[in-house]
Amino acid sequence: MPVYRFPKVKPSEITPEAVWQGRRQWIKTAGAAALTGLAAPWAGIAEGAGLANLGAKRNPSYIVMDTPTPEKDVTSYNNFYEFGTDKGDPLLYAKALKTEPWSIEVVGEVNAPRKFGIDDLLKLAPLEERIYRMRCVEAWSMVIPWVGYPLSALLAQVQPTSKAKFVEFQTAMQPDAMPGLHSRVIDWPYTEGLRIDEAMHPLTLLTLGLYGKTLPNQNGAPVRVVIPWKYGLKSAKSIVRIRLVEKQPVTSWERIAPSEYGFYGNVNPEVDHPRWSQGSERRIGEGGIFAPRRKTLMFNGYANEVASLYQGMDLRKSY
Ligand code: MTE
Repeated sequence: MPVYRFPKVKPSEITPEAVWQGRRQWIKTAGAAALTGLAAPWAGIAEGAGLANLGAKRNPSYIVMDTPTPEKDVTSYNNFYEFGTDKGDPLLYAKALKTEPWSIEVVGEVNAPRKFGIDDLLKLAPLEERIYRMRCVEAWSMVIPWVGYPLSALLAQVQPTSKAKFVEFQTAMQPDAMPGLHSRVIDWPYTEGLRIDEAMHPLTLLTLGLYGKTLPNQNGAPVRVVIPWKYGLKSAKSIVRIRLVEKQPVTSWERIAPSEYGFYGNVNPEVDHPRWSQGSERRIGEGGIFAPRRKTLMFNGYANEVASLYQGMDLRKSY
């Protein structure tokens, strides 16, 4: 069977975000830092802090200049509906999630289906620290130092066939540990999906940690994906199964509310949610509800890297 051809772009050829964010802004920041002796906002965060376990190296091609959101906010203000619908529920209840043993099975349109244990995943590619801007569909955002490597490294292992047009992520169901499964807020398991070129894009991160440590349960332990140009709902947590398929999968959110959530979920300030504006956002950890809102950027600021994936598409229809 023919094998999927991987994109020719190497991660190192991607324009560093500091460049596309505006050379002037970069020069201003760097210049001010040089004059005042101040460093970039993330410089104070020790690389690989607490990383006796993970040992990731910061990848300078994938860092934003925004100040990272404090770790205590990243790990206490969460969406993980399996543990409840309040932002504080995951911190309270996700302790019960059983993360060992754990494996991800990768199946479907692949020549070499395989189950990967966490130890396999940790060895598969060098772990990198990347500082990504994250934008939730609910119009709040964070800046998070993630630890992982491109999902493409995992997909390469299973040799996708030419029929592999989409990737579906299925996440864990542990009824004893997850009170949310007993209510029908979502058609469980929480299921998400990407087009194969989105899944293979170097920004799409198979994620095993944050702030230098293994993922806290409330953030999707032991393994999740992170897709920074899409609304946070696309970044499925606690993944147990990845299926490569020919037909576009139906995601949990599309199934619940098709008029509100589409398959793509790309951050787009020009297409409002039917019930609220997507034009601006509140940065968590930044002065509470009285802090000025930030303008939301097209593709969450990653347009230079990803806009070409959507050439010729009407992003109002494919939302
Ligand atoms: N994954 C699962 N399994 N269950 C969920 O409820 N929520 C999504 C996404 N992944 C969710 C999930 C939503 S709506 C968001 S905004 C992000 O996870 C939040 O990730 P964070 O809590 O690590 O910031």
